[in-house]
Amino acid sequence: MGYALGARVSGVDLSRPLDTDTVQQIKSAWTRHLVLVFPEQHLDPETLIAFTRHFGELDNYETQPFNRHPEHDEVMLLSNRPVNGKLPAGAYNGQNWHTDLSYTPRPAKATLVYCIQKPSVGGDTMFASMYAAYEALSPKMQAFLDDLEGVNDVSLISARRDPAILEAFKRLNPPVIHPAVRIHPESGKPALYVNDRVRTFVGMSDAESKPIIKFLCEHSQQPRFVYRHRWSVRDLVLWDNRCLTHLAVGDYDPSEIRHMIRTSTMGDYFGRFENPRSAETANTSAAATSTEVAQAASMLHD
Ligand code: OGA
Ligand code: MN
Repeated sequence: MGYALGARVSGVDLSRPLDTDTVQQIKSAWTRHLVLVFPEQHLDPETLIAFTRHFGELDNYETQPFNRHPEHDEVMLLSNRPVNGKLPAGAYNGQNWHTDLSYTPRPAKATLVYCIQKPSVGGDTMFASMYAAYEALSPKMQAFLDDLEGVNDVSLISARRDPAILEAFKRLNPPVIHPAVRIHPESGKPALYVNDRVRTFVGMSDAESKPIIKFLCEHSQQPRFVYRHRWSVRDLVLWDNRCLTHLAVGDYDPSEIRHMIRTSTMGDYFGRFENPRSAETANTSAAATSTEVAQAASMLHD
């Protein structure tokens, strides 16, 4: 669907169990194209969860428990459809360039989003290949980045977040250090892992880091590295967070409904907390999590 990334997959019904050969074909297409679009699917939370299992262990969203589906902890609602007259916390997720859960020590591997309702115009999602972005850098810059580490900070997630939710989000997810370049475990290729949610580089001052982060973000967000998805209802989109960044464009009338359900799978542990003591307090127990949620929800609705 795009030069840098993206392919459409037809002729498969994801609501049914798949044979091993079909799963293998989907996985190798996914490794090659980074984003797969499966049009005209008929999915519900259960069948979405079943398909997601092919791509790893499901995340139950303890690190961001604010937009869970009421019956399935593993399903997140990306929706501005009011619930009891209130806007859900996940209404305007992802409106800066990012890769999912990079603010945790174990970022997402796959993310799957199924479109149930969309605005009459817009509500697009853009994806940028971090392989292509890395490859286009000079060898000197690549070598400089290869042993650099970035501090990934959840407070940079998005300006449109409710402040109470953002506070709870920050308490659950203290800043995390990840390499600036990742080798993808399946393709073996290097991918840039710097995006709008990286605050600074380890061992460098903020004044030194900021212009480089700005450069890398602008560089990787160039249209030549990007595929822009214009959603249709019943699209299932599967993407690989280890080698791309993405952005919810927000190009729609907020009085129209955009309603999608999302799952993700857990990637490898490869990060560490900026402050080692954070490990003691970060999303440790379900009890702490539900307190955070209750607090955030009451602050939000008062
Ligand atoms: C996400 C996300 C993009 C969109 O859910 O992680 O970035 O367009 N969503 O909703
Ligand atoms: Mn995202």
